[in-house]
Amino acid sequence: MFPPTSAEAARDLVTRMVDEGLVATPEELSQIIRYLTATYADASDA
Ligand code: HEM
Repeated sequence: MFPPTSAEAARDLVTRMVDEGLVATPEELSQIIRYLTATYADASDA
């Protein structure tokens, strides 16, 4: 769900994107997961 409240949740979110058509290299997927974790999970109070 959004926003992700943990690195695991960010990974799950990106996994759903891939299931729905996101095409990216493993490096790009890792970068997206890091971005979402830093922007939402690490920044949230949850
Ligand atoms: C062509 C590339 C992409 C496709 C096809 C795609 C597809 C999707 C899909 C299907 C969802 C809904 C997932 C779910 O909750 O079940 C989603 C959500 C999301 N995606 Fe992507 N995605 C792409 C690229 C990206 C990239 C590069 C980012 C990096 C910031 C990103 C950030 C997000 C965020 C923040 C959400 C949550 C939005 C919300 O629930 O309101 N996406 N994406």
